[in-house]
Amino acid sequence: MENNASKNQEKEAVKSSPLQAPKGMRDILPEDSIYWDKIFEIAKDTADFYGFGHIDTPILEYTDLFSRGVGSGTDIVEKEMYAFRTKGGDNVALRPEFTAGVMRSFIENGMSRFPQPVKLWYFGPTFRYENPQAGRYRQFYQMGLEILGGETDPVYDAQVIVASIRLFEDLKLKDIIVQINSIGCHTCRAQYRKKLQDFYKKEIEAAERRRTRVVCRDCERRVDINVLRLLDCKEDLCQDIKSRAPSILDSLCSNCRDHFKSVLEFLDEVGIRYELNTFLVRGLDYYNRTVFEFVDANYGMALGGGGRYDYLAEILDNKSSVPAIGMALGIDRIANLLKEKQIGVPNRKKEKVFVIHIGEIAKRKTFALMEELKRNRIAASEAFGKDSLQAQMRVADKEEAKMALIIGQKEVYEEATIIRDMKTGIQETVPNSKLIEEIKKRLHKQ
Ligand code: HAM
Repeated sequence: MENNASKNQEKEAVKSSPLQAPKGMRDILPEDSIYWDKIFEIAKDTADFYGFGHIDTPILEYTDLFSRGVGSGTDIVEKEMYAFRTKGGDNVALRPEFTAGVMRSFIENGMSRFPQPVKLWYFGPTFRYENPQAGRYRQFYQMGLEILGGETDPVYDAQVIVASIRLFEDLKLKDIIVQINSIGCHTCRAQYRKKLQDFYKKEIEAAERRRTRVVCRDCERRVDINVLRLLDCKEDLCQDIKSRAPSILDSLCSNCRDHFKSVLEFLDEVGIRYELNTFLVRGLDYYNRTVFEFVDANYGMALGGGGRYDYLAEILDNKSSVPAIGMALGIDRIANLLKEKQIGVPNRKKEKVFVIHIGEIAKRKTFALMEELKRNRIAASEAFGKDSLQAQMRVADKEEAKMALIIGQKEVYEEATIIRDMKTGIQETVPNSKLIEEIKKRLHKQ
């Protein structure tokens, strides 16, 4: 971990309390996890449809994987990584993203011998030591799709984008726009970088002569280190010069231009709305050619992003060459948005029955009845902790159960159960031998 981050961590350590989740991390309680579950379900369906297999990689990886893969000069690695040395002396880091780990796994498991390309999807927690705020956490969840191996065929860039949009649509998020750009290959990007650097340097020098500033301090520092990031700057001061900067699309070599054109044609073919955003460069070093982000006009932060990363394999292991394209969605942000918009609110209310006991012996019978309902796949719940009939009825009401199954001493003795229709209040005693059949009949009646 870099110095700033560890200093901040020390400061926070003083304030830490065993009764508080660490700063920027939170519990996902049942009222929210219903959104997570829904997103997972739709993510899985989408990934299955487009032929992606599920992969899970370790939450911890060797730090080097990210320093080399994501890039040692990126914010993620320089400032935001939870990296530490284990007692055994290994330098490891909590994954700040999945892509580098997925590529590591591809190489380590010899997936280049599998039918190409290999399509993988994932869902899980990631960690970045950022300044927490709404929609920005230190532990957050990503779901992603990666297509590795085979050719650099633009159809796969388009497929990753289309699959993501379909996933959003299935979540009833209809206003997602894809912002898209191409950042070229090693050759044309190097030329563009030089052009951009010359432009900025000239402008900064001219401004200095006028004793004014045209870029913020961060950008001034980055001109020599990572000039593309200047296009990403959100500071007001930097907007004017940014709008006059040369566009990367004018500098693409013919192969990169054709590739990009073809990606856009595939998107046009299936009516995906996109916006060209020539300022989009993304904060990770491994990208080349297509880069994109998913935004919703009413949500201030990107809901997901991705791009092509044909050089990552070589960066990690110079014997490998693996063309690749992928994307990751920010699940926390999507869940926030679903909740905020009150759309796609998952309706988990299955018709269910509620078992009620009156007395200790009846409690044992209802305990066994729950298991019988489970075996018969009948949705059921109980309030075993409450003994009074009224208290149990109140829970049944609250849970909007369709019927209550009531067992008292008399019913134990008669081997029967009372079925109470929760809407009408009408009750009927049914012999236990016919109970399951009767419940099924009533559940299907509606
Ligand atoms: P990323 O843009 O760094 O890309 O992250 C993807 C998404 O994760 C973001 O668009 C955002 O929705 C969410 N996200 C990022 N940081 C946070 C945070 N602190 N709190 C909440 N949500 C966050 C990647 O990670 C690449 N690995 C994507 C990729 C896959 N590229 C190729 N394949």
